[in-house]
Amino acid sequence: MADWDLLLSDANIATMAANAPGYGEISDAALAVRDGRIAWVGNREELPDGDATRTLSLEGRWLTPALIDCHTHLVFGGDRSAEFEQRLEGASYEDIAKAGGGIMSTVRATRTMSADELFATALPRVQALAAEGVATIEIKSGYGLDVDNEIKMLEVARRLGDASAIDIRATLLAAHTVPAEYKGKADDYVDLVCEELLPAVAARELADAVDAYCESIAFTAPQIARVFRKAAELGLPVKLHADQLSDGGGAELAASFDALSADHLEYTSAAGVMAMAQSGAVAVLLPGAFLTLGETQRPPIDELRGQGVPLAVASDCNPGTSPMCSLRNAMMLASRLFRLTPLECLAGTTREAARALGLADDRGTLEIGKRADIAAWDVDHPRELAYWIGTPQLAELLLAD
Ligand code: NIG
Ligand code: FE
Repeated sequence: MADWDLLLSDANIATMAANAPGYGEISDAALAVRDGRIAWVGNREELPDGDATRTLSLEGRWLTPALIDCHTHLVFGGDRSAEFEQRLEGASYEDIAKAGGGIMSTVRATRTMSADELFATALPRVQALAAEGVATIEIKSGYGLDVDNEIKMLEVARRLGDASAIDIRATLLAAHTVPAEYKGKADDYVDLVCEELLPAVAARELADAVDAYCESIAFTAPQIARVFRKAAELGLPVKLHADQLSDGGGAELAASFDALSADHLEYTSAAGVMAMAQSGAVAVLLPGAFLTLGETQRPPIDELRGQGVPLAVASDCNPGTSPMCSLRNAMMLASRLFRLTPLECLAGTTREAARALGLADDRGTLEIGKRADIAAWDVDHPRELAYWIGTPQLAELLLAD
């Protein structure tokens, strides 16, 4: 039996290992894979003797960990281009939501679609991300907002994972907004989520995590605390849409529940940043939503950096606030709008994105033992991945299984 299933040679490698300086660059490198895991990585001259079932010369290309999109809502019905026009004519996201549009209009469209129709419209979005080098995608529910339709969305997410080589992580986002039939009775809806929906989802193992939207147009901190307590009881990790449009203490709330991540964070206070630093929550930055909503207040990047909060970057692919099915564009926007360095953009879509999904030990860097999801790029240096705009550079996406 061969020592390795695959040997990659004649490569330049950015390991993105946390303890290595910069990109963890290794020139004239080799990488060996066995059983879907990285068995060896380093300078070719130090490669131990061994034989491989398959050898691939990279002809000097750069290898990085395959990209990870740790925040998407890419299963949905319809689109919100009419609201996009309304916003450009002066209406705000909150005004549209209060008038029954916004997330609720996507809920109406999603409820009318069958699982097969949702699957058929979402699959090209998964494929578009894979074509950019993305091997792991998180997908949230949150446009069903009743037991059957939230389960339908999560089942579609699971099917997308089964039908493609991409690893899909499904997140229950039942506390996304109060559905029309519960208008004025948000607490009753939270009862339904805690007493019926969460147990049903956990019993079917349909979700890997639980998310919620903490905002004046969505749910209050006490309501979300109830959802998070139930998630903890069922053994599910939590994460939060926090402080996107106002400071609702979302970062502090997420930290107090040891959330994997707090996402958006435009209005997070210094106290919120401190709380995240202490809890170890990842800050997931979503520049596509910032851009689309015409926000002017940036997340407190300097404070997050200063406190050592890990920074991830995601597409937030959704029809309302981030109609962008591209993680490369999210990296590009994070560098331009939030002034993340190209190194932070790549770490934010590999190592820190893995951490935001609770997968830090499993993937996101090219180190021995990690899952062998590897992207090969036609670039002269990995900093180019945040630099070029709309330029395809993926040579090959090698997947662990
Ligand atoms: O991440 N903030 C709330 N959730 C989504 C938007 C969803 C929508 O508007 O449909 C977000 O921006
Ligand atoms: Fe989101």
